[in-house]
Amino acid sequence: MKVLVVGSGGREHALCRTFKQSEKITKIFCADGNAGIARVAERVNIKPGEIGALARFAVENRIDLTFVGGETALALGIVDEFERRGLKIVGASKQSARLEASKSFAKDFMRRHNIPTAGYEIAESPREAVEILRSGRFGIEGAPVVVKADGLAAGKGVVVAANRLEAERAINELENTVGKEAVERIVLEECLFGKEVSLLLFADGEHFALMPPVRDHKRIYENDAGANTGGMGTIADPSLLSKDETAKIIGEIVEPTMRGCREEGFPFRGILFLGLMMTPDGARVIEYNARFGDPETQVILVKLKTDLVEICEAILNQTLDETAVEWETGSSACVVLAARGYPQKAQTGDVIYGLDKEFTDVNIFHAGTAQDERGNYITNGGRVLGVTASAENLSEAIKRAYRAVGEISWNGMQYRRDIGK
Ligand SMILES: Nc1ncnc2c1ncn2[C@@H]1O[C@H](COP(=O)(O)OP(=O)(O)O)[C@@H](O)[C@H]1O
Ligand SMILES: [Mg+2]
Repeated sequence: MKVLVVGSGGREHALCRTFKQSEKITKIFCADGNAGIARVAERVNIKPGEIGALARFAVENRIDLTFVGGETALALGIVDEFERRGLKIVGASKQSARLEASKSFAKDFMRRHNIPTAGYEIAESPREAVEILRSGRFGIEGAPVVVKADGLAAGKGVVVAANRLEAERAINELENTVGKEAVERIVLEECLFGKEVSLLLFADGEHFALMPPVRDHKRIYENDAGANTGGMGTIADPSLLSKDETAKIIGEIVEPTMRGCREEGFPFRGILFLGLMMTPDGARVIEYNARFGDPETQVILVKLKTDLVEICEAILNQTLDETAVEWETGSSACVVLAARGYPQKAQTGDVIYGLDKEFTDVNIFHAGTAQDERGNYITNGGRVLGVTASAENLSEAIKRAYRAVGEISWNGMQYRRDIGK
């Protein structure tokens, strides 16, 4: 079987590695990949947004299965385009992907289906958002307000403002950071308090299979200080959610979401990602993503025992209920190594040292890497590597990851020392 993975980050490296382990796979292509992916897959020079070119490539190369990593291609309708041509592809349809691509759509969807989430109001323009705040009808005097750009914003569209005045300032700045299109609508949200957990699932429209719960670290500096990033590290640990919490999440969130998608005519097929806040009153949905996260994927896939191809086939055949999706026991941790200047402006082209060493139960997934003419691996993006370790318990997984991190270096490398703490 020939598989095509769409994307170029650490997530896609983890996907390629996992496909490589399947006996059913004879060849992996990745569009457009990175220097680490090039060791397990043939790179294809097509960007994820070029969905017509990707579909033509899949036809010409008789690709048996395509797996989409990121949201850009999904929101553009890559799944619909492939299916129209009779190609097999795993990912959310354009309509399903609106759960991620439009925060206002997701909020109204949750309201329609009684899915617990933060209270909110939708403004049709930045000006209306300011008016709503000034009217005093939204939020409590002196309390934090969350301001969200409606559209895809690569993690830069959300500001948790300390009060209404700060929220106004955030609204006025939002357009500059995320662009006009993403702020055609703005969502104002009540601020929730609690611990954040992400729960991902494989979904076939009808049935689902949960993955181990994960937690990510979004800020650039330790103790969650500094700017937001794409993610500086993640852990997967069964103790992030108790059995009772998981059962309630299934009943109050997962099942109503799956049912809601079916009722509204877009059964959810692919990877569904629930960003949750565990409040004193129970779990609330912060957001949906219609895909795997990065670096959540890395810690999840190193724990997957079942053949990923089998799971993909079950998603396509709607037989996830008949497929046992099994996971290794224990925990895993991913420490992201980023380039100097990230997340503002990352410095690239630095030679990476220490990649020749091997560690047990450690996978070094490449994100922003390239090779120079001498064959050295060099930095080629903000997040460069995701050092991912697996163990019987969390503290051992973290220890293993940092031991490997200690062997890797380049000029200006930065990382957090508190992942999983
Ligand atoms: N209603 C809320 N209350 C408290 N914090 C929130 C709320 N909504 C979002 N956040 C914080 O902002 C982060 C980003 O918001 P999210 O909706 O996940 O947007 P995105 O991931 O698209 O940037 C969340 O991980 C969470 O830390
Ligand atoms: Mg998020």
